[in-house]
Amino acid sequence: MKKYASLKSIASYVPSRCVKNSDFEEILDTSDEWIRKRTGIQTRYFASDDENSSDLGARAAKLALERSGLDVQDIDLVIVATLSPDYLGMPSSACLLSAKLGIRNKPAFDISAACSGFIYLLSLAKSFIESGAYENILIVGAEKVSSVLDFKDRSTCVLFGDGAGAAVIGTTSEKNKSILDVHISSDGTYYDYLLTPRSLKESKFLQEKFAPQYLQMKGNETFKLAVKTLTSDVKEIMKKNNIFSKDIDFFIPHQANLRIISAVGEQLKFSSEQVVVTVEKYGNTSAASIPMAMNDIYENGRLNGGDLMLLDAFGGGLTWGSALLYFGA
Ligand code: UT7
Repeated sequence: MKKYASLKSIASYVPSRCVKNSDFEEILDTSDEWIRKRTGIQTRYFASDDENSSDLGARAAKLALERSGLDVQDIDLVIVATLSPDYLGMPSSACLLSAKLGIRNKPAFDISAACSGFIYLLSLAKSFIESGAYENILIVGAEKVSSVLDFKDRSTCVLFGDGAGAAVIGTTSEKNKSILDVHISSDGTYYDYLLTPRSLKESKFLQEKFAPQYLQMKGNETFKLAVKTLTSDVKEIMKKNNIFSKDIDFFIPHQANLRIISAVGEQLKFSSEQVVVTVEKYGNTSAASIPMAMNDIYENGRLNGGDLMLLDAFGGGLTWGSALLYFGA
């Protein structure tokens, strides 16, 4: 019997410190009105000094495991998507998160696909499971984006938030409980649209003043490309699978900007009931944004087993992707 990959459970973790738009008015030349009007964001949450991405991810992952009914010993692989890892290079946040959950002697690694991270994770998990390599995979989008923000740059620091979303991907023999299709792509010629510089060309060995490592974004250019790319990418995956907008229970886009979500949603003719929006509460939590939004509709009792979801994301790299999947719980 054919085995399909299936999203068995979803969970998230939101750190406790709520930051309002008005809090930025005290440190920057900005306003609650500008942020709401241009982005839809009202609040975001920041992790505390002693919380890192692996801590946020571990909280979400523990709940996702509980909801899947599996034990830590059942997990064959842990993959974390993050642009804000605990450590630069090594150890991976996936290794740290595994240790925090008590998962040992299993493979664990991070991927770097910025805000498209969760779609990339789904693609990897689906391939690993459907090739027969693994049975149960823990995938986690975990971000302490606040650790790479420049709080002097009003064009970026007001947009992002911290958080984590986790899912257990297992197997099913039922196609209507499976991950139907995942499409991922990238174009590195736009590498400088969104970046967190590690070193600038001007930096010299042993130079006393190191280059800033803060997130930088060409916001307006990214905005335009995001709307165009997301719309065509979503149209393509729906056409390939012979699925129409009316067939989708929930369209869950990456939560970067309400104007992007509305523009894409309108072009694809989704109703407001179909489009899941959480950007007003959490801001842009990068790789965590889609699983956090999915968890919101799950916890509100709206997402039920067998519901068909369409996900799409766009982020640094540039990377993008979309996924069509049933909720396999
Ligand atoms: O998650 C990965 C993908 N990310 C995205 O897709 C984000 C895409 N970009 C965006 O969401 C939007 O481009 C932004 C929200 C970042 C900016 O909105 P915009 O409508 O594209 O504004 P803009 O960059 O064209 O800037 C318009 C004005 C500028 O002032 P001037 O030059 O017209 O005087 C900015 O300096 O708004 C100014 N501005 C601000 N003003 C008050 C930029 N940030 C702020 C701010 N408060 N926080």
